[in-house]
Amino acid sequence: MNAHLIIPNHEVQATIELLLSEGWLSQTLRIHSDESGEFRLVPLDSDAPRNLPPPLDRYHVLDKEGKPTQNRKPSWQSALESLVGIEIVEEYESIWPASHEFIGDMMLLKIEEEVRIYEEQIVKSKMESHPHIRLVLEDRGVKGEFRVRDLRPMGLRINGRIKVNPGLDAVQTRVEVKESGQTIICDPAVAYYSSRLQTERIQNAIEAEELRAKIGSPIAVADPFCGVGPALAHLVNRPNLVGQILASDLNPEAISMLNENLRRWCGSDIAGSSQGKLQRNNDVWSGVQDARELAENPELLGRWNMMIINLPHSFAEFLPLLIPLMDATKPFVIRGRLVCRHDEITENHQQLLEQMPNSNAQVVLDPRRDYSPITSLCSVTIRNP
Ligand SMILES: C[S@@+](CC[C@H](N)C(=O)[O-])C[C@H]1O[C@@H](n2cnc3c(N)ncnc32)[C@H](O)[C@@H]1O
Repeated sequence: MNAHLIIPNHEVQATIELLLSEGWLSQTLRIHSDESGEFRLVPLDSDAPRNLPPPLDRYHVLDKEGKPTQNRKPSWQSALESLVGIEIVEEYESIWPASHEFIGDMMLLKIEEEVRIYEEQIVKSKMESHPHIRLVLEDRGVKGEFRVRDLRPMGLRINGRIKVNPGLDAVQTRVEVKESGQTIICDPAVAYYSSRLQTERIQNAIEAEELRAKIGSPIAVADPFCGVGPALAHLVNRPNLVGQILASDLNPEAISMLNENLRRWCGSDIAGSSQGKLQRNNDVWSGVQDARELAENPELLGRWNMMIINLPHSFAEFLPLLIPLMDATKPFVIRGRLVCRHDEITENHQQLLEQMPNSNAQVVLDPRRDYSPITSLCSVTIRNP
């Protein structure tokens, strides 16, 4: 039996894009109509969580025998088999890089040392089964304060031919991606960006809409770890949702792309300052700024209705430094991600609650996946009434 989401026909395209970005769409089963013809049954990958996060949680899940794809393109595993032979494929069955992340026309994947000698065959088989992919990069994890991925080009397609190990200088990693109908400029080799966080970003937008309804006017949103601004991309295209924006980050490369993105989304009057330092352009503050120092700027204090804290290892450290920025005279919401030990979720929940100005605040810590054998990566929502 295979899990399928039951999706109304007119919502299928957006749902497929979301499932693809998270790696949750089955690669071996195909989408097909239900008996009424009004819904499509969308098969989930076996790695997809059983309890899907919003907005996917509004669809029913049906367990039924899946229908195999009639794909003309070879799956990357069968392409690999033709290059290395069935014995080798079976020998390393659970070790091959089964999952990957798409960022524009690039594919990022992690590779285990045991199969590194087959790197060339892996690249060729992945590129053969994904003909739109221009560049395959090895993702060696995020590094340093800027949380930038350590990327190594493994294969570049030039005029239909694949060049292996092309070297970082020989490849273009700056690309445009589409999320929620908005184009985002990003370059994962110099500034953090992950296409895997779209469900979090959609949840931000749902919370933002609810907050605006409570407050009764467009809200002021602060994103002090904004990177190139993907969370804001999901908010600025909703009519009358956002009044003011604070978008800051420590990484000047991220801010340079953020300002380009903001110009596209909010109008051409967003001028970047020299060295990208934080500056105000009408209702938008953007620039390079250490989040530890934001509360030293009196103009920013007590102004914001929603804040996004996407720095999972340091959420709890930054929260008390950033709460003074919130407008506590009205309801406010803080959304983010937090890494904590499985056995300390209740304790963390209590500690976050104690920091809120209103004792009736609601803190939701939702473990989304294991970060390590002893820690979870949690989605955080704090609603201060
Ligand atoms: C996990 S990334 C999230 C980026 C962005 N919010 C996103 O979802 O794509 C964390 C970001 O925080 C920035 N950062 C780290 N420490 C910071 C600090 N003290 N002040 C401001 N930004 C910081 C990094 O440069 C990085 O861009």
